[in-house]
Order: sequence, then structure tokens, then C-alpha cells
Amino acid sequence: MSEISHKPYYLTTPIYYPSCKLTLGNSYTTVVSDVLARYHRLLGEDVFFLTGMDEHGQKIQRTAEAAGMEPQAYLDIQAEEIRALWKLLNISYDGFIRTTDEHHVQAVQTIFERLYEQGDIYESDYEGWYCTPCEAYWTESQASEGVCPDCNRALEWTKERSYFFRLSKYGPKILEYFKSHPDFLQPTSRMNELITNFLEPGLEDIAVTRSSFDWGVPVPIDPGHVVYVWIDALSNYISALGYPEAETDPAGNFKKFWPCDVHLVGKDISRFHALYWPAILMALGLELPKQIFAHGWLLMEGGVKMSKSKGNVVYAQDLCERYGVDCVRYYLMREIPFGMDGRFSDRSFLERLNADLANDLGNLLSRSTAMLSKYFSGRLPEAREPEAIDEDWKTVLSVSMADYRRAMEGLHFNQALAALWRFISRSNKYIDETMPWILAKDESKRNRLASVLANLFESLRQSAIALLPFMPDSATKILSAIGISLDSEAEIAAFAKLGTYENFETSVKIEAAQPLFPRIDIDAELASLEDENMSSEAAVSVSCKTTSTAEEATEPPVSKAEIAFEDFEKLHLCIGRVRACEKVKDADRLLKSTLELSSGREVTVVSGIAEHYSPEEMLGKQVLYLENLKPRKIRGVLSQGMLLCAEDGDGRLVLLRPESDVDNGSEVG
Ligand code: ME8
Ligand code: MG
Repeated sequence: MSEISHKPYYLTTPIYYPSCKLTLGNSYTTVVSDVLARYHRLLGEDVFFLTGMDEHGQKIQRTAEAAGMEPQAYLDIQAEEIRALWKLLNISYDGFIRTTDEHHVQAVQTIFERLYEQGDIYESDYEGWYCTPCEAYWTESQASEGVCPDCNRALEWTKERSYFFRLSKYGPKILEYFKSHPDFLQPTSRMNELITNFLEPGLEDIAVTRSSFDWGVPVPIDPGHVVYVWIDALSNYISALGYPEAETDPAGNFKKFWPCDVHLVGKDISRFHALYWPAILMALGLELPKQIFAHGWLLMEGGVKMSKSKGNVVYAQDLCERYGVDCVRYYLMREIPFGMDGRFSDRSFLERLNADLANDLGNLLSRSTAMLSKYFSGRLPEAREPEAIDEDWKTVLSVSMADYRRAMEGLHFNQALAALWRFISRSNKYIDETMPWILAKDESKRNRLASVLANLFESLRQSAIALLPFMPDSATKILSAIGISLDSEAEIAAFAKLGTYENFETSVKIEAAQPLFPRIDIDAELASLEDENMSSEAAVSVSCKTTSTAEEATEPPVSKAEIAFEDFEKLHLCIGRVRACEKVKDADRLLKSTLELSSGREVTVVSGIAEHYSPEEMLGKQVLYLENLKPRKIRGVLSQGMLLCAEDGDGRLVLLRPESDVDNGSEVG
């Protein structure tokens, strides 16, 4: 087909650290990239979509050691897990790079040598606050208390021999480049931040090797050192295209795809991509990527960042298992304005599923197919009888799809979906306006009824095509439910005509479609999620807190902060005796206990321990009780305070009790 452009389009995700299980935050970047990759394929472009793993560094080495494994063996298992996650999320990547790949290691060594030979890398002393047990440097602000933010031990001002990259030399050139390429880093506000905070004050040279650990690419000229983080990690974007050998190969991927169209990254690493990476590329005499897009963070309720070190993590696997992959993809793309922070909450997730997917889209499909099946035994007649009322629906079709295209071009994915949903809602309203069930009663209205149904099928066809980048499985299912199957060329052709009305015709018999998306009882679902959380709350959070080094730690590590004695005194801890206990109705994990405190006063507590204690076992026991925890309703029962438990290695919860009997209500402290 001559219209297919075959223009090369290269996009990348960050390469992720496999030091722990990837979170919904990592999945978010990857899903966004996948939507963009699919969109460009639908434009007929020749897409190369790269993702991968950042496998070197002390953190990985430590994690592997803790697991009793060699780093490479540990990484191979992680690689399988990550590939399985991308498969689950339907990620259509073309390349998967691992920084331990032989070719990548050689590329990094060549790059290092080249930069060293031309004087852009030089040897000097690295100085900083060093924690010997953690083998980590901390910046002045991280070390402001004089102790290691990770282990709280005293830091020492230390010097080590290291190699430095002459970043300072490239600052003025980068500033100039920013000014002549105002779209280089998006959103623009990020570019302004970098100008004010880094480029105008002047960039400092950066240490690019370490000698305190050895899990990294060996420095070719000095085997006691390994290349540290950014030269290794950032070079993946060119080594994956066959650089350096392919630099001059006219048939190779490097010539074809470099410079990259867009690096998609989270805002936490935009500085490295927009300052370090251009400097490295300038030093190598290579073109800069066309664009870096730094998206915002996925925040949890309360506005805190989801992160492995905070233990407030949601995993894509859990959501996909419970609600289906396309619901997760849709939510991420619809709820978070791309480039800004977005909040994840179970409630907003469930509300989107119900309102947009189960109701708007799901209903359009089930109502349209059910009516065709009922009124025409699933066979759409050819005769048509248009009416004036159809015109407004057609206008909304073309306007919405034009908005959709514009939004996609600007990477405003949530706006693209909002535009599409304006059309879907309009189509549902069209059913209410045309009232096919009334038309069906009138033999003289058969042609009109056929027209209305054809228009509804056209709505579904157009919507499904616009959904192909976002929900490829569901889009294909919708198409197949209305008798359409498209190969990739036909998809491209259909995508090109999105928004242009077509008279929907089919010779295929159409069945009443099964619901595509589950409709969820939100309150019941939230209650059962809460029960599950309750029972895992007591669990020691499976955090991934290993030592991070100064430059890896773009946010301060979070352990439980030291508290003052006054803070401890805020807790009202006492001993109570269980006087009554029963299971909470419809909740497998919950027990409701009545505790006697001093002089016969009683309180009710709900605890997630029903799998560990029977109500009978609880009776008469004295337990440790936190009294002044804000009361909350759990499964309709007001729980006042909390029983304290310890968790053993097998996940068994054990109640904490006084060593010998004390008066009920005795203070603890
Ligand atoms: O930084 N919200 O890897 P990483 C949104 N290896 N996005 C999030 C997120 C959240 N809560 N949490 C993580 C690294 N991300 C380096 C990159 S690239 C040459 C080297 C996403 O495993 C976001 O894209 O820590 C962020 O930039 C990336 O995961 C960091 O992944
Ligand atoms: Mg990180």
C-alpha cells in the first residue's frame, strides 16, 4: 500500500533496576510507551520500541548475595519475571536490552576509552561522606545529620581515586541547545527547572567509576574500577541499535533509528537524560534524541509517591489478576494526565471501571448486539433510512475523532480517551433518542431500525479502532463481536480513516455479546480489599531497602524515622482482657473482640487474625492494646484501637501478652 509511510520511529523506556519486583509505577511508563508504539505502528511507521534492565551496581550485587545467588543467576531469573510482566500487560516491545549483554558491555568499554582518549574522562579524587558498612557515598544534604541515612552509623569524609566525566565543559552547549530546541524536554516546566537549577549555575564534572564494588563493566584501562551507573545505563539506547560497530553500517539499526524520537522517563531521572546524556552524545559526536518526555509520578492516597522503599506499593500483576489487563491499561492512561502526577486509589480505579468500561463502552456493545440479535436474528439488513437526527451523532463522531488525533499527536493520552468517550456517550444517547425498541414494534420502520443499528455498529467499529493502541485485546474482541477481523495493514487503513463515517454493512451473523468488562459492587469490593490489607498490614513490609549509593538515591531513603520520646508518649498502650470474641460476618480474616479495660470499661476491636486464632482461643486472654488509634469502621463494625501482634517468618501472627497477669487497663510504657 503506497500510503503506508514506513517512517522509522524509535522510542524507549528507562531500563529498570531489577533489584526488586517492578511496581505499578514502572509498569505505568512501560504501558504509556506501548500505547505510543502501537499508535505509531497504526500510522504505518516502522517502529522500534526498546525496553530493558539496568543490571549493574552494588544494589544488585547485594540483593543477589542476600538471596544466596551469583548476580548473573539472580538477574536471569529477574529477566524472566520482567518479561512475563510485560507479556501480561501486553507490551509490544521490539528490543529488550540487558546491560550485562556481552555487546552492551563492549560498547560501554569502547565509549569509555574513546572519551578517555579525547580527554573527556580524566582521573582524580572523589570526595564525599562515606558510610563504610554500607559502602555508599552520600551528598552533603543527605548527610546533614552526620550519619548514614540508611543505617544511622557515623559517616566519614572519604577520598577515593575515580574517573570523572567533563560534564562542566558541555554545560554551555547544552544550554544553547535547550534554547534553540524548546521542545527537547517535555513538559517545558522541567526544562526551565534544569536551566535555573543546573545549567545557569554551571554543571560540575561527575564521577563515572567506582572501585568499592565490582559488579559493573570493568574500566578497560584500569581493571580495579567499574563504570558507574549513568554511562553504562544511558548507553543502552545506542548499544541496543548496534553501536559502535553499526555507526557506519548503512543497513544497520543505528543508521535507521538514531536519533531516537522519544525517550520516555519518569521525572526522577529527567536530569540524567536531559543533561548527562546529551553531554555524552555530544562528546561522541552523535546526534541528540529528538525528545525526552518526563512524566509525573503515580502517587498513592495522601499524595505520597509509590515506591519500593516506602512499602506502599501496588503491583500490576495483582490488579490484572483481579480485574483484567485492559482495565489496568485503561485506568493508567485515562486517570493520569500525561506529564503530571496522578493518584492511584482503589476507589477511583473501580469507579472508572464501572462508569467508563462496564457502563459506557460495555453497554454500547451489549445493547447493540442484543438488539440486532432480537430484532433481526443477528443479520443486519442492507436497506437504510437515514433521518435528520443522525447528523448530530455524525458530527460528534468527526469532531471527537479529530480531537482524539490531536491529543495523541501531543501525547495527551488522557485527553484522547476523554474525546473518544464523548463519542461513546453520544452513541449511547443516540439509542435513547432513536428508541429502537419502539421502532421494532412498527413493521413500516424496519429500514429505519436497520439504519439505527448500523450506526451503532459504526460507533463500535470506530471506537474499537481508536482503542487499538490502548486496549488491544478488548478492541480486537469488540471488532470480532461485530464481525470484523483486521490484519495489520487493514488496521492501518482503518486508522487512517478514523472519524470518517462509513455505512456499516456485514454479512456475518452477529450474536448478543457477552459483557466485556466486569461490573463491580464498589462498596463490597473496597471492603474485601480492606480485609485483605488488614491481614497484611501487620506483616513486616516486604520492602526493598538495600543500600543505595548517592547518585542512585534521587530521593532520601525512607526507613522509619527516629522519633522523640514525646512522640512515643503519644501512644496510649495498655493491657486489656478479651471478654467476648466472634468472627466478623462475611470476612474470613477478621475477628471482633470485646476487651475489658480498667474498672469494667469495654471497647470493641476488629483484627485481621481469624486465620491464626479462633474466637474460643481468644477468650480470657490478656493482650497488648493500642487505645488511641483513630477509630475506623471495618465491615460495618466500628473498631476502636488495635491489638498488637508479631509476625514470624511463616507469616503467622502471634499476639503480644504480658508475661504475667496484670490488672486490666494497666498502662504500658
Ligand atoms: O531509575 N510513578 O530505574 P528504576 C511513575 N535504572 N513512574 C514510576 C514510579 C512512580 N511511582 N516509580 C517508578 C532507574 N517509575 C534507572 C534508569 S535509564 C537509562 C536508567 C518509573 O527501576 C519511572 O519511569 O528506578 C522512573 O523513571 C523509572 O520507573 C525508574 O525505574
Ligand atoms: Mg529509582
